[in-house]
Amino acid sequence: GASGGIGQPLSLLLKNSPLVSRLTLYDIAHTPGVAADLSHIETRATVKGYLGPEQLPDCLKGCDLVVIPAGVPRKPGMTRDDLFNTNATIVANLTAACAQNCPEAMICIIANPVNSTIPITSEVFKKHGVYNPNKIFGVTTLDVVRANAFVAELKGLDPARVNVPVIGGHAGKTIIPLISQCTPKVEFPQDQLTTLTGRIQEAGTEVVKAKAGAGSAT
Ligand SMILES: NC(=O)c1ccc[n+]([C@@H]2O[C@H](COP(=O)([O-])OP(=O)(O)OC[C@H]3O[C@@H](n4cnc5c(N)ncnc54)[C@H](O)[C@@H]3O)[C@@H](O)[C@H]2O)c1
Repeated sequence: GASGGIGQPLSLLLKNSPLVSRLTLYDIAHTPGVAADLSHIETRATVKGYLGPEQLPDCLKGCDLVVIPAGVPRKPGMTRDDLFNTNATIVANLTAACAQNCPEAMICIIANPVNSTIPITSEVFKKHGVYNPNKIFGVTTLDVVRANAFVAELKGLDPARVNVPVIGGHAGKTIIPLISQCTPKVEFPQDQLTTLTGRIQEAGTEVVKAKAGAGSAT
């Protein structure tokens, strides 16, 4: 998904990271252009684009970390579950290629619904006999940064200093912000706490609505 709305800025961030030595970009469209563009940045990571399923094995061989933002995003009015049919197949195919070509890599799944694409990934790795639960991750950091930002806004704090642990999944009520465990310690009256929790849980929908069909951010 390296050419997508999430994949392109994510590739840029990875190219800028001093921790990355080799960046391989895979998609079914546009990766030669995305890779050529990023390769001109003066950081140490080498960049190469791979296009289409026949180039996928070469893209994955030797990778320590694979991040998957491939698949369709939500349009206004859709839940993450509405993406299941399309994205389940995409994730199953991509992770099967990971199990075959880089079974030791850490696998980070961004494609929604994360609550379902993670169990799918685990089953694919089990089927290939290379399952290690410590190496399969659902990317839900967005819920943490949103919780930190909203709490900081309400309390007039520096958002960089606020840390709200968020547990559970990555959809609606499965997103559980532990505001009682926030550092620094914060307190809200019950009605404000209920509204704040609801806003964190539905923050992705807030953005999908605001973008009105022109991009995802969930
Ligand atoms: N976990 C999160 O926090 C989070 C945040 C934002 C978006 N998402 C999810 O990430 C996914 C991508 O969102 P987007 O806005 O970038 O969508 P997008 O449509 O802009 O990009 C998707 C990309 O996936 C590519 N793709 C499609 N099928 C593929 C395949 N079989 N192999 C490789 N690449 C393939 C497309 O060519 C496209 O470049 C969506 O499922 C969205 O819900 C998750």
